[in-house]
Amino acid sequence: MPVIHFKLPDGTVKSIEGAVGTPVMFLAKDNGIDQILAECGGCCSCATCHVHVDPDWFPKLPEMSEDELNMLEFAEGQDDTSRLSCQLIIAEELDGLVVNVPESQY
Ligand code: FES
Repeated sequence: MPVIHFKLPDGTVKSIEGAVGTPVMFLAKDNGIDQILAECGGCCSCATCHVHVDPDWFPKLPEMSEDELNMLEFAEGQDDTSRLSCQLIIAEELDGLVVNVPESQY
């Protein structure tokens, strides 16, 4: 299974195996990454699953939908590496993906 590396605000890294087809958000929630709130449950309507993707990985991700792009405007600290983790679906090609978890979602 692909491994996703979550860099937490305190500098620690949680490396977690995730099943292909699972949103990165659910992997985070199921493994106690509390900074990912995901209040809408993955419907792309809250922006509280915001992460910053490692710049080396960002270009390798599938393109954002317009919905994700619009919703990201509500994410605190949004920048060029921002994605919504509920919209990032684990795939074999994403084995080793590094995401930086923000300290706060608001
Ligand atoms: S969980 Fe709400 S936008 Fe991702």
